[in-house]
Amino acid sequence: MKIEELKTPAFLVDLPKLKTNIRNMKERARLHGVCLRPHVKTHKTAEIARMQTPQEASGITVSTLAEARFFQNAGFDNITYAFPITPNKMAEAAELTGRMKQFHLLLDQRETARALENYGRDNNVCFSVFLKIDCGYHRAGVDPSKLGSVQLAEKMQASKHIQFKGILTHAGHSYHCRNREEIIGIAKQERDVMVKFAGRLKQHGIVCEIVSVGSTPTAVHTPGWQGVSEIRPGNYAFFDKFQTDIGSCGLEETAAAVLTTVVAHYPQHNQMLIDAGALALSKDPGAVHLDDEIVYGAIPGYPHLKLFSISQEHGLITSEAAIACDDFPVGSLLQIIPNHSCLTAALFPKYHVVEGNRVVDEWRPMRGW
Ligand SMILES: Cc1ncc(COP(=O)(O)O)c(C=O)c1O
Repeated sequence: MKIEELKTPAFLVDLPKLKTNIRNMKERARLHGVCLRPHVKTHKTAEIARMQTPQEASGITVSTLAEARFFQNAGFDNITYAFPITPNKMAEAAELTGRMKQFHLLLDQRETARALENYGRDNNVCFSVFLKIDCGYHRAGVDPSKLGSVQLAEKMQASKHIQFKGILTHAGHSYHCRNREEIIGIAKQERDVMVKFAGRLKQHGIVCEIVSVGSTPTAVHTPGWQGVSEIRPGNYAFFDKFQTDIGSCGLEETAAAVLTTVVAHYPQHNQMLIDAGALALSKDPGAVHLDDEIVYGAIPGYPHLKLFSISQEHGLITSEAAIACDDFPVGSLLQIIPNHSCLTAALFPKYHVVEGNRVVDEWRPMRGW
């Protein structure tokens, strides 16, 4: 099948680019001497996860228990559920713990540690758990400068129903950067905060088996991960316009695109309608800290075209100069590189895997919570 035969909107995965992105990150992890535990929420497919890990026994990261179950069923048995556990998910987490060689949770609240301890005692389970650290993003995690954070680790270590696995952070503030130099600064901060806190824990007799960090921007540009044992980037498999804008990759490295059809021209408004709206691209506004003019994706080959408005199924493109309608006839196809490929991928029930113009495979991601 050729790309032109697909019904639009369709989610395309460029296989050669995907393979290159995966190979490059493996190489980076090897060079820096850290384990790569890719975050598979970006694509949620067993096919890509298998390409990212040397064997199914090697670790992956997920963001929901439904993902953990899906990947466990696909043969993965070393999974970190990298979202703080809550009491209403402990029964399912316990069941998954029993089904895998390694299943790791994380927490950053005393109440959660207490609830997990109680659940473990009442149900005779020992959970493997990371303490989540805030390395500067301020989304989740304990403040590593506070004594209470050390005390929480001590509490976890002392519990009979918690195996203290180590410390974990996500430098999501790397997405606020404007260039490579700024990303390197955040990568250093991410490493330094974690290594310093691991050292502090050691002084209190607490050993971190794993020091886990990782975001795609910092994983791409880090000068070194000394003292870190694993990294968990995810977005690097596809990259996207956001990563391009902040300097993590070039637009030509992006491996995911939405195929869309030109539906109509409205020369009176200098606009062109496409069949990719918010349900095909997500409404992620992109790197607005760099440019406050919002566009909902990049159109390779046509940098003058701006996808400036999207509603549920409609997308509207304009341009500073008059759009040459003859260059984009009604029924012709365009490819849009999404602002945030993880959100965009999550909108599609299947991915069309392409090599050049040919559709060579079809992958079905997991869906649901
Ligand atoms: C806890 C955690 N780890 C790792 C990642 C992967 O980072 P990235 O999406 O930058 O590859 C994320 C992404 O949000 C995350 O939340």
